[in-house]
Amino acid sequence: MKQLTLCILFTCALALLAGCDKPSPTAPGVDPALGESVYTQRCGSCHERGMAGAPRTGAADEWKTALERGIDTLIANAINGYRGERGFMPARGGHAALTDAEVTAAVHYMVNKVR
Ligand code: HEC
Repeated sequence: MKQLTLCILFTCALALLAGCDKPSPTAPGVDPALGESVYTQRCGSCHERGMAGAPRTGAADEWKTALERGIDTLIANAINGYRGERGFMPARGGHAALTDAEVTAAVHYMVNKVR
């Protein structure tokens, strides 16, 4: 009997641990509210409707090849600018005053819409 109780406790602990292990929707240290406001003010002009060939936010098929590059590359490309097959992504979306943290938060916001 004692063994059974221990076993149940152990299983519960494992289940709890597994629950904690779920990937959070946003990376730690990235502020989702900041991402949304930067996106709305600075990135949506192109990415909302696909202006200039920009992959549209929420359109998973248009983000497929970009996502394969991995989030770190996408962040670097958004900060430094990037010319791909679709068109030209200006450095920081053309808004030089944006900080790395702001651009990073906006990229997370966009990527979370297609993951
Ligand atoms: C002037 C229009 C424009 C604005 C503003 C803009 N983008 Fe883009 N963005 C593009 C275009 C065009 C591409 C596609 C480049 C390609 O794949 O050829 C792109 C691609 C990207 C990609 C994918 C890069 C990759 O490696 O495939 C990310 C991430 C991105 N933009 C983030 C942002 C963020 C964050 C902002 C706001 C700070 C922003 N963009 C603002 C036009 C824009």
